[in-house]
Amino acid sequence: MSLSIIVAIDENYGIGKDNQLPWHLPADLKYFKAVTTGHTVIMGRKTYDSMGKALPNRRNIVISRQKKLDLQDASLVHSLEEAISLCSSDEEVFIIGGAEIFRQAIPLISFMYITRIGHRFDADTFLKGIDWNEWEEISREDREPDEKNAYKYSFLKYQKRGS
Ligand SMILES: NC(=O)c1ccc[n+]([C@@H]2O[C@H](COP(=O)([O-])OP(=O)(O)OC[C@H]3O[C@@H](n4cnc5c(N)ncnc54)[C@H](OP(=O)(O)O)[C@@H]3O)[C@@H](O)[C@H]2O)c1
Repeated sequence: MSLSIIVAIDENYGIGKDNQLPWHLPADLKYFKAVTTGHTVIMGRKTYDSMGKALPNRRNIVISRQKKLDLQDASLVHSLEEAISLCSSDEEVFIIGGAEIFRQAIPLISFMYITRIGHRFDADTFLKGIDWNEWEEISREDREPDEKNAYKYSFLKYQKRGS
């Protein structure tokens, strides 16, 4: 089983604002859906709340310290390790945020799917803790703005060196 994160960041590593995404970029939502559909997705409770419901056609695992959360459409666990332990028969598992969960996951992952957006947004949540020397870019797709997507963006995939 390999563990990956998938995240969209702005030029300042911003990922969120007021428990929402700071931008509207439908091409990235489409990419996220294509990459993660059919897989298990692991997320923090705040990211689950920000979506309002589980992502369809994926097994959703939500991490919280609260013992009595009533989630109808997702599995509740109480640590990242517990989430990962449920995935031993998966091929690739996606950790989808937010910042608190990414910070704990980065030492454990082999791949990062990063959408870099060519703009600086007003954000209150940031992706932290990546030592870029440890990562090799293995694929890259650059996209120009169009009528539906107002910013330049790139889909990048990184592999941890030596993994
Ligand atoms: N740009 C992107 O790709 C992207 C992706 C995902 C999210 N986001 C954004 O990121 C923001 C949310 O990120 P966030 O860092 O505030 O929250 P988060 O990581 O989604 O969730 C944090 C919560 O997870 C639980 N948690 C964290 N560590 C835990 C542990 N070790 N054991 C048990 N439970 C644990 C706690 O839930 P309880 O409080 O219930 O105990 C904690 O409050 C939003 O703005 C969202 O839109 C952006």
